[in-house]
Amino acid sequence: MRMIPQSILVTGATGQVGTELIASLRKIHGPEQVLATDIHPPDSGMNGGPFELLNVLDETGMRRLFERYRPTQVFHLAALLSAVGEKQPQKAWQLNMEGLLHVLRLSVEFKVEKVFWPSSIAVFGPLSPKKNTPQNCIMNPHSVYGISKLAGERWCEYYARHHGLDVRSLRYPGLIGWQADPGGGTTDYAVHIFHEALKTNSYRCFLAENTRLPMMSMPDAIRATIELMEAPRERIRIRSSYNIAGISFTPGELAAAIRARLPGFRINYLENDPRQEIADSWPESIDDTEARQDWNWKPAYDMDRLTDAMLKNIRRNRTFVHDL
Ligand SMILES: NC(=O)c1ccc[n+]([C@@H]2O[C@H](COP(=O)([O-])OP(=O)(O)OC[C@H]3O[C@@H](n4cnc5c(N)ncnc54)[C@H](O)[C@@H]3O)[C@@H](O)[C@H]2O)c1
Repeated sequence: MRMIPQSILVTGATGQVGTELIASLRKIHGPEQVLATDIHPPDSGMNGGPFELLNVLDETGMRRLFERYRPTQVFHLAALLSAVGEKQPQKAWQLNMEGLLHVLRLSVEFKVEKVFWPSSIAVFGPLSPKKNTPQNCIMNPHSVYGISKLAGERWCEYYARHHGLDVRSLRYPGLIGWQADPGGGTTDYAVHIFHEALKTNSYRCFLAENTRLPMMSMPDAIRATIELMEAPRERIRIRSSYNIAGISFTPGELAAAIRARLPGFRINYLENDPRQEIADSWPESIDDTEARQDWNWKPAYDMDRLTDAMLKNIRRNRTFVHDL
Protein backbone atom coordinates (compact mmCIF):
# COMPACT_ATOMS: atom_id res chain seq x y z
CA MET A 1 0.00 0.00 0.00
CA ARG A 2 1.38 3.44 -0.95
CA MET A 3 1.51 5.89 1.93
CA ILE A 4 -0.06 9.32 1.41
CA PRO A 5 2.76 11.87 2.05
CA GLN A 6 2.36 13.45 5.45
CA SER A 7 3.56 16.79 6.67
CA ILE A 8 4.33 16.39 10.35
CA LEU A 9 5.04 19.16 12.83
CA VAL A 10 6.62 18.31 16.20
CA THR A 11 6.88 20.88 19.03
CA GLY A 12 9.35 20.49 21.91
CA ALA A 13 11.32 18.28 19.52
CA THR A 14 14.76 18.58 21.11
CA GLY A 15 13.60 17.16 24.47
CA GLN A 16 13.86 13.62 25.82
CA VAL A 17 10.84 12.26 23.92
CA GLY A 18 11.20 14.46 20.82
CA THR A 19 14.78 13.41 20.10
CA GLU A 20 13.71 9.78 19.74
CA LEU A 21 10.26 10.39 18.24
CA ILE A 22 11.72 12.56 15.45
CA ALA A 23 14.14 9.79 14.48
CA SER A 24 11.32 7.22 14.26
CA LEU A 25 8.91 9.51 12.40
CA ARG A 26 11.63 10.38 9.87
CA LYS A 27 12.36 6.71 9.32
CA ILE A 28 8.68 6.09 8.56
CA HIS A 29 7.75 9.22 6.61
CA GLY A 30 11.09 10.50 5.29
CA PRO A 31 13.29 13.23 6.82
CA GLU A 32 11.83 16.13 4.83
CA GLN A 33 8.24 15.29 5.86
CA VAL A 34 8.93 15.85 9.57
CA LEU A 35 9.55 19.39 10.82
CA ALA A 36 11.21 19.50 14.26
CA THR A 37 10.61 22.69 16.26
CA ASP A 38 11.64 23.83 19.70
CA ILE A 39 12.33 27.04 21.61
CA HIS A 40 15.98 25.90 21.83
CA PRO A 41 18.10 24.82 18.88
CA PRO A 42 19.23 21.17 18.95
CA ASP A 43 22.69 20.39 20.40
CA SER A 44 23.64 18.43 17.32
CA GLY A 45 21.95 17.64 14.00
CA MET A 46 18.26 16.74 13.87
CA ASN A 47 18.64 13.43 12.02
CA GLY A 48 19.14 15.22 8.74
CA GLY A 49 15.70 16.84 8.53
CA PRO A 50 14.35 20.39 8.88
CA PHE A 51 14.35 22.30 12.18
CA GLU A 52 12.77 25.67 13.04
CA LEU A 53 12.74 27.68 16.23
CA LEU A 54 9.18 27.91 17.58
CA ASN A 55 7.84 29.20 20.88
CA VAL A 56 4.46 27.53 21.45
CA LEU A 57 3.38 30.52 23.55
CA ASP A 58 3.66 32.75 20.47
CA GLU A 59 0.37 32.03 18.71
CA THR A 60 1.13 34.45 15.87
CA GLY A 61 4.46 32.80 15.11
CA MET A 62 2.76 29.44 15.30
CA ARG A 63 0.00 30.50 12.90
CA ARG A 64 2.65 31.66 10.41
CA LEU A 65 4.30 28.25 10.61
CA PHE A 66 0.96 26.45 10.14
CA GLU A 67 0.23 28.67 7.09
CA ARG A 68 3.58 27.95 5.55
CA TYR A 69 3.89 24.27 6.46
CA ARG A 70 0.23 23.12 6.40
CA PRO A 71 0.79 20.16 8.75
CA THR A 72 -1.36 17.05 8.35
CA GLN A 73 -0.24 15.78 11.78
CA VAL A 74 0.97 17.64 14.88
CA PHE A 75 2.83 16.06 17.80
CA HIS A 76 2.75 18.63 20.59
CA LEU A 77 5.45 17.75 23.13
CA ALA A 78 6.54 21.13 24.53
CA ALA A 79 5.84 21.25 28.27
CA LEU A 80 7.40 21.93 31.66
CA LEU A 81 7.73 18.64 33.57
CA SER A 82 6.73 17.74 37.13
CA ALA A 83 9.81 18.60 39.19
CA VAL A 84 10.74 21.82 37.37
CA GLY A 85 7.05 22.72 37.24
CA GLU A 86 6.84 22.76 41.05
CA LYS A 87 9.65 25.32 41.11
CA GLN A 88 7.83 27.56 38.61
CA PRO A 89 4.12 26.72 38.96
CA GLN A 90 2.86 29.80 37.10
CA LYS A 91 5.16 29.16 34.17
CA ALA A 92 4.26 25.44 34.10
CA TRP A 93 0.56 26.24 34.00
CA GLN A 94 1.03 28.87 31.28
CA LEU A 95 3.26 26.74 29.04
CA ASN A 96 1.32 23.51 29.48
CA MET A 97 -2.14 25.06 29.01
CA GLU A 98 -1.63 27.93 26.57
CA GLY A 99 0.70 25.88 24.39
CA LEU A 100 -1.91 23.10 24.12
CA LEU A 101 -4.79 25.51 23.47
CA HIS A 102 -2.82 27.20 20.68
CA VAL A 103 -2.20 23.80 19.07
CA LEU A 104 -5.83 22.70 19.41
CA ARG A 105 -7.21 26.00 18.02
CA LEU A 106 -4.79 26.13 15.08
CA SER A 107 -5.31 22.44 14.32
CA VAL A 108 -9.05 23.07 13.90
CA GLU A 109 -8.43 26.24 11.85
CA PHE A 110 -5.93 24.54 9.52
CA LYS A 111 -7.83 21.23 9.35
CA VAL A 112 -4.97 19.15 10.75
CA GLU A 113 -5.88 15.48 10.32
CA LYS A 114 -4.45 14.14 13.60
CA VAL A 115 -2.96 15.63 16.77
CA PHE A 116 -0.91 13.82 19.41
CA TRP A 117 -0.43 15.27 22.87
CA PRO A 118 1.08 13.36 25.80
CA SER A 119 -0.56 13.37 29.18
CA SER A 120 1.04 11.68 32.19
CA ILE A 121 0.43 9.41 35.16
CA ALA A 122 0.74 12.72 37.09
CA VAL A 123 -3.01 13.20 36.47
CA PHE A 124 -3.59 10.76 39.34
CA GLY A 125 -3.35 11.79 42.96
CA PRO A 126 -3.29 10.43 46.52
CA LEU A 127 -6.99 9.47 46.38
CA SER A 128 -6.59 7.45 43.16
CA PRO A 129 -6.16 3.68 43.67
CA LYS A 130 -2.40 3.07 43.97
CA LYS A 131 -2.18 -0.38 42.38
CA ASN A 132 -3.40 -1.10 38.85
CA THR A 133 -4.82 2.41 38.69
CA PRO A 134 -7.76 2.24 36.27
CA GLN A 135 -8.53 4.50 33.32
CA ASN A 136 -11.35 6.20 35.20
CA CYS A 137 -11.18 6.87 38.95
CA ILE A 138 -10.85 9.73 41.42
CA MET A 139 -8.16 12.08 40.13
CA ASN A 140 -6.83 14.70 42.51
CA PRO A 141 -3.34 15.55 41.24
CA HIS A 142 -1.12 17.39 43.71
CA SER A 143 1.48 18.87 41.35
CA VAL A 144 0.78 21.81 39.05
CA TYR A 145 2.09 19.56 36.28
CA GLY A 146 -0.59 16.97 37.06
CA ILE A 147 -3.27 19.65 37.28
CA SER A 148 -2.25 21.01 33.87
CA LYS A 149 -2.24 17.52 32.31
CA LEU A 150 -5.67 16.71 33.74
CA ALA A 151 -7.08 20.01 32.43
CA GLY A 152 -5.35 19.32 29.09
CA GLU A 153 -7.07 15.94 28.84
CA ARG A 154 -10.44 17.59 29.28
CA TRP A 155 -9.59 20.15 26.59
CA CYS A 156 -8.55 17.39 24.17
CA GLU A 157 -11.85 15.60 24.75
CA TYR A 158 -13.71 18.90 24.33
CA TYR A 159 -12.04 19.60 20.97
CA ALA A 160 -12.75 16.06 19.78
CA ARG A 161 -16.41 16.37 20.79
CA HIS A 162 -17.17 19.94 19.75
CA HIS A 163 -14.84 20.41 16.78
CA GLY A 164 -14.42 16.85 15.49
CA LEU A 165 -10.65 17.13 15.99
CA ASP A 166 -8.91 13.75 15.80
CA VAL A 167 -6.78 14.27 18.90
CA ARG A 168 -5.10 11.28 20.53
CA SER A 169 -3.22 11.02 23.79
CA LEU A 170 -1.33 8.70 26.13
CA ARG A 171 -0.70 8.98 29.84
CA TYR A 172 3.03 8.28 29.66
CA PRO A 173 4.62 6.70 32.74
CA GLY A 174 8.25 7.67 33.61
CA LEU A 175 10.21 7.24 30.37
CA ILE A 176 13.64 5.65 30.29
CA GLY A 177 15.83 6.10 27.21
CA TRP A 178 19.51 6.38 26.37
CA GLN A 179 19.49 8.97 23.61
CA ALA A 180 18.59 12.17 25.47
CA ASP A 181 18.73 13.57 28.98
CA PRO A 182 15.46 13.73 30.89
CA GLY A 183 13.94 17.21 31.25
CA GLY A 184 13.25 17.56 35.00
CA GLY A 185 10.66 14.96 35.96
CA THR A 186 10.15 12.93 39.13
CA THR A 187 11.24 9.68 37.46
CA ASP A 188 14.54 11.07 36.06
CA TYR A 189 16.50 8.97 38.57
CA ALA A 190 15.78 5.88 36.46
CA VAL A 191 17.81 7.39 33.58
CA HIS A 192 20.57 9.08 35.64
CA ILE A 193 21.25 5.89 37.57
CA PHE A 194 22.51 4.10 34.43
CA HIS A 195 24.88 6.91 33.44
CA GLU A 196 26.32 7.14 36.96
CA ALA A 197 26.57 3.36 37.26
CA LEU A 198 28.78 3.26 34.18
CA LYS A 199 30.79 6.31 35.24
CA THR A 200 31.33 5.70 38.97
CA ASN A 201 29.61 2.37 39.77
CA SER A 202 27.53 4.26 42.33
CA TYR A 203 24.46 6.52 42.52
CA ARG A 204 22.82 8.90 45.00
CA CYS A 205 19.11 8.46 44.46
CA PHE A 206 16.69 11.30 45.20
CA LEU A 207 13.76 8.91 45.74
CA ALA A 208 13.46 6.43 48.62
CA GLU A 209 14.43 2.79 48.11
CA ASN A 210 10.84 1.46 48.12
CA THR A 211 9.15 4.08 45.95
CA ARG A 212 7.37 2.02 43.30
CA LEU A 213 6.39 3.92 40.15
CA PRO A 214 5.09 3.05 36.68
CA MET A 215 7.88 3.29 34.10
CA MET A 216 8.39 2.48 30.43
CA SER A 217 11.31 2.08 28.05
CA MET A 218 11.54 4.87 25.50
CA PRO A 219 11.33 2.43 22.55
CA ASP A 220 8.02 1.14 23.94
CA ALA A 221 6.75 4.71 24.44
CA ILE A 222 7.69 5.73 20.89
CA ARG A 223 6.08 2.60 19.47
CA ALA A 224 2.92 3.21 21.54
CA THR A 225 2.76 6.78 20.22
CA ILE A 226 3.12 5.70 16.61
CA GLU A 227 0.71 2.77 16.96
CA LEU A 228 -1.89 5.02 18.57
CA MET A 229 -1.51 7.58 15.76
CA GLU A 230 -1.71 4.92 13.06
CA ALA A 231 -4.76 3.15 14.50
CA PRO A 232 -8.01 3.59 12.53
CA ARG A 233 -9.97 6.56 13.82
CA GLU A 234 -12.96 4.50 14.93
CA ARG A 235 -10.74 2.40 17.22
CA ILE A 236 -9.86 5.42 19.35
CA ARG A 237 -12.70 5.51 21.83
CA ILE A 238 -10.95 7.56 24.49
CA ARG A 239 -10.29 11.17 23.55
CA SER A 240 -9.00 12.39 26.90
CA SER A 241 -5.93 10.13 27.25
CA TYR A 242 -5.20 6.40 27.42
CA ASN A 243 -3.56 4.67 30.39
CA ILE A 244 -0.54 2.69 29.17
CA ALA A 245 1.67 0.47 31.30
CA GLY A 246 5.20 -0.81 30.88
CA ILE A 247 7.09 -1.91 34.00
CA SER A 248 6.69 -0.91 37.65
CA PHE A 249 9.72 -0.97 39.93
CA THR A 250 11.41 0.70 42.90
CA PRO A 251 14.88 2.30 43.02
CA GLY A 252 15.97 -0.67 45.16
CA GLU A 253 14.85 -3.16 42.51
CA LEU A 254 16.49 -1.20 39.70
CA ALA A 255 19.72 -1.01 41.69
CA ALA A 256 19.62 -4.79 42.17
CA ALA A 257 19.16 -5.33 38.42
CA ILE A 258 22.15 -3.07 37.72
CA ARG A 259 24.26 -4.76 40.42
CA ALA A 260 23.58 -8.15 38.81
CA ARG A 261 25.33 -6.76 35.72
CA LEU A 262 27.86 -4.42 37.37
CA PRO A 263 29.08 -6.19 40.53
CA GLY A 264 29.85 -3.81 43.38
CA PHE A 265 27.36 -1.13 42.22
CA ARG A 266 26.48 1.02 45.24
CA ILE A 267 23.40 3.16 45.82
CA ASN A 268 22.44 5.49 48.65
CA TYR A 269 19.28 7.44 49.16
CA LEU A 270 18.96 11.18 49.77
CA GLU A 271 16.35 12.30 52.26
CA ASN A 272 13.86 15.17 52.01
CA ASP A 273 14.06 15.69 48.28
CA PRO A 274 10.92 17.57 47.12
CA ARG A 275 10.40 15.03 44.30
CA GLN A 276 9.59 12.36 46.92
CA GLU A 277 6.30 14.07 47.76
CA ILE A 278 5.28 14.10 44.10
CA ALA A 279 6.26 10.43 43.70
CA ASP A 280 4.27 9.48 46.82
CA SER A 281 1.13 10.99 45.28
CA TRP A 282 1.42 8.91 42.07
CA PRO A 283 0.25 5.35 41.29
CA GLU A 284 2.49 2.32 41.72
CA SER A 285 1.17 0.52 38.65
CA ILE A 286 -1.30 1.19 35.85
CA ASP A 287 -4.18 -0.79 34.37
CA ASP A 288 -4.08 -0.30 30.60
CA THR A 289 -6.96 -2.61 29.61
CA GLU A 290 -8.55 -0.01 27.31
CA ALA A 291 -5.33 0.61 25.31
CA ARG A 292 -4.85 -3.16 24.90
CA GLN A 293 -8.44 -3.63 23.77
CA ASP A 294 -8.87 -0.59 21.54
CA TRP A 295 -5.60 -0.49 19.58
CA ASN A 296 -3.78 -3.66 20.70
CA TRP A 297 -1.18 -2.05 22.95
CA LYS A 298 1.40 -4.43 24.41
CA PRO A 299 4.77 -3.45 25.94
CA ALA A 300 7.88 -5.31 24.79
CA TYR A 301 10.41 -4.35 27.50
CA ASP A 302 10.56 -5.98 30.93
CA MET A 303 13.05 -5.08 33.66
CA ASP A 304 15.85 -7.32 32.31
CA ARG A 305 15.54 -6.15 28.72
CA LEU A 306 15.40 -2.51 29.81
CA THR A 307 18.48 -2.82 32.05
CA ASP A 308 20.48 -4.65 29.36
CA ALA A 309 19.50 -2.15 26.67
CA MET A 310 20.29 0.91 28.79
CA LEU A 311 23.73 -0.34 29.81
CA LYS A 312 24.63 -1.54 26.32
CA ASN A 313 23.55 1.62 24.52
CA ILE A 314 24.97 4.13 27.00
CA ARG A 315 28.26 2.22 26.89
CA ARG A 316 28.23 2.22 23.11
CA ASN A 317 27.50 5.98 22.90
CA ARG A 318 30.26 6.75 25.41
CA THR A 319 32.73 4.66 23.44
CA PHE A 320 31.63 6.45 20.31
CA VAL A 321 32.26 9.86 21.90
CA HIS A 322 35.70 8.78 23.16
CA ASP A 323 36.59 7.42 19.74
CA LEU A 324 36.03 10.76 18.03
N1 LIG B 1 9.78 12.14 29.90
C1 LIG B 1 8.84 11.57 30.64
O1 LIG B 1 9.12 10.70 31.47
C2 LIG B 1 7.39 11.97 30.44
C3 LIG B 1 6.40 11.32 31.20
C4 LIG B 1 5.08 11.71 31.04
C5 LIG B 1 4.75 12.68 30.12
N2 LIG B 1 5.72 13.30 29.39
C6 LIG B 1 5.32 14.35 28.44
O2 LIG B 1 5.95 14.17 27.19
C7 LIG B 1 6.22 15.45 26.61
C8 LIG B 1 7.68 15.55 26.25
O3 LIG B 1 8.42 15.38 27.45
P1 LIG B 1 10.01 15.33 27.48
O4 LIG B 1 10.39 14.38 28.51
O5 LIG B 1 10.55 15.24 26.11
O6 LIG B 1 10.29 16.80 28.05
P2 LIG B 1 11.62 17.66 27.90
O7 LIG B 1 11.62 18.66 29.01
O8 LIG B 1 12.80 16.80 27.70
O9 LIG B 1 11.33 18.42 26.52
C9 LIG B 1 10.40 19.47 26.43
C10 LIG B 1 10.86 20.38 25.31
O10 LIG B 1 9.98 21.49 25.24
C11 LIG B 1 10.75 22.61 24.89
N3 LIG B 1 10.06 23.86 25.26
C12 LIG B 1 10.00 24.44 26.49
N4 LIG B 1 9.30 25.60 26.40
C13 LIG B 1 8.92 25.73 25.11
C14 LIG B 1 8.18 26.71 24.40
N5 LIG B 1 7.69 27.81 25.00
N6 LIG B 1 7.99 26.53 23.08
C15 LIG B 1 8.48 25.43 22.44
N7 LIG B 1 9.19 24.48 23.05
C16 LIG B 1 9.41 24.62 24.37
C17 LIG B 1 12.06 22.44 25.66
O11 LIG B 1 13.11 23.19 25.08
C18 LIG B 1 12.28 20.93 25.54
O12 LIG B 1 13.11 20.61 24.44
C19 LIG B 1 5.74 16.49 27.62
O13 LIG B 1 4.44 16.91 27.29
C20 LIG B 1 5.72 15.73 28.92
O14 LIG B 1 4.80 16.27 29.82
C21 LIG B 1 7.03 12.96 29.53
